[in-house]
Amino acid sequence: MLEVKNLTKRFGDLIAVNNISFSAGQGEIFGLLGENGAGKTTTLRLLATMLKATSGTATLNGYDLIDEPEKVRSSIGILFGGESGLYDRLTAAENIAYFGELNNMSRQEIKKRIAELGEAFEMTDYMDRKAGKFSKGMKQKVAFARSIVHNPAIMLFDEPTSGLDVSAIRNVHDFIMACKQAGKTIVLSSHNMSEVEKLCDRIGIIHKGRLVAVGSIPQLLEEHGGSSLEEIFMRLVGDCNEL
Ligand SMILES: Nc1ncnc2c1ncn2[C@@H]1O[C@H](COP(=O)(O)OP(=O)(O)O)[C@@H](O)[C@H]1O
Ligand SMILES: [Mg+2]
Repeated sequence: MLEVKNLTKRFGDLIAVNNISFSAGQGEIFGLLGENGAGKTTTLRLLATMLKATSGTATLNGYDLIDEPEKVRSSIGILFGGESGLYDRLTAAENIAYFGELNNMSRQEIKKRIAELGEAFEMTDYMDRKAGKFSKGMKQKVAFARSIVHNPAIMLFDEPTSGLDVSAIRNVHDFIMACKQAGKTIVLSSHNMSEVEKLCDRIGIIHKGRLVAVGSIPQLLEEHGGSSLEEIFMRLVGDCNEL
């Protein structure tokens, strides 16, 4: 369970995230849909405790973002788009173990979990090989395994498919759906309308740091009047541009 309450982030004069509120429940995928510069990454970095909020807060897995950042950190898994961020000189297992240690897991827990994840992602063959020589697909699996090593209740995905080819995108979508099936609470940011339509239970349209609409697609269609998410998106984002 995740509840965001009036979260705001300023960078000097710029309000990157402007008083946004939304919630997501267990097994729910909440999509943050917005153009470049809308404030998606900043929102997710705030929730991941990587940035300090200017005002507002959030509750993640029952913990307050501002008062209990360490408990929040241990409740979330993060998969951000772009580079996988693996350490080339470490093996797959060592890469995963390192994240486990950061999350205060014991050696025994980590060992058990690596065995489980190796089976789940069919990567037992290369668990003890150095990540530097892995194919993109292998690196992707290690990144998935690493993000859930501590079995977090909440997953944050920031544009996880941007720049990927078709089969890699499919793997990410399958992984997100598997997280949903496992009952995790998920926030996914994207600028891709069809991705959001395919995966998300509820959507927040973010524009210039503000959430300009929130709801399921049927709710958005009803509230904002339109025949498609794209039409509503263009209208809301266009309207705001004119203000
Ligand atoms: N560290 C930062 N310092 C100053 N401005 C920033 C910083 N990070 C993001 N911004 C600005 O905040 C706004 C939102 O950025 P971002 O959250 O990255 O948007 P998105 O992920 O939706 O593309 C943009 O105008 C961006 O330039
Ligand atoms: Mg971004």
